[in-house]
Amino acid sequence: MSKWFYFNIILLILSVWQVVNHFSFPALSTPILFGLIGFLLFLFNWTRNAVFSTIRNTPDRKMKIKFVNISKRVMPFHRWTGTLALVFIVLHAISILHLYGFSFHNSKMVAGLLALLNLILMVITGWWRLIKPTGKLRRTHLRLGIALFFLIAIHLLL
Ligand code: HEM
Repeated sequence: MSKWFYFNIILLILSVWQVVNHFSFPALSTPILFGLIGFLLFLFNWTRNAVFSTIRNTPDRKMKIKFVNISKRVMPFHRWTGTLALVFIVLHAISILHLYGFSFHNSKMVAGLLALLNLILMVITGWWRLIKPTGKLRRTHLRLGIALFFLIAIHLLL
């Protein structure tokens, strides 16, 4: 199994932990709900990286075949799931700005803004690959995914 499975599980636990500890819990406020849905859609897509990395590295043939089949089933939706994640995160940001306004002194907001910009680039490179499927774009998309993972982790931790 790829180490990314474990990283993703840790991030999932962190997000759930933050949500249940939010003052609005159990009645989730609109920004938190949008943020959580956007986050889960991102994580669903990012898990594909863990699946691919397992396919590449596992010596277990049975596991390889199982993961290839899962990946084939999920792949047609990948771009749409990513785009939907962006829609929910934009809604999250709009409702946050509506509720609190924006401040560069608020590090959670700054990390969130950087994550949003990163997500926009991810969605752009994801669709771009449909038009121009180069190795450079694939690597850029992957690196943006890694950066986004850590930006979201920082955003959730702050
Ligand atoms: C990929 C981008 C983003 C993701 C995945 C995301 C996800 C989340 C999640 C799951 C929460 C609830 C858990 C917590 O409080 O830590 C949250 C809270 C929050 N987010 Fe984001 N977010 C993103 C972008 C943004 C942006 C762009 C902003 C602001 C400009 C922002 C501002 C906030 C704030 C202020 C909270 C705390 C709200 C409160 O305590 O009531 N986030 N975010």
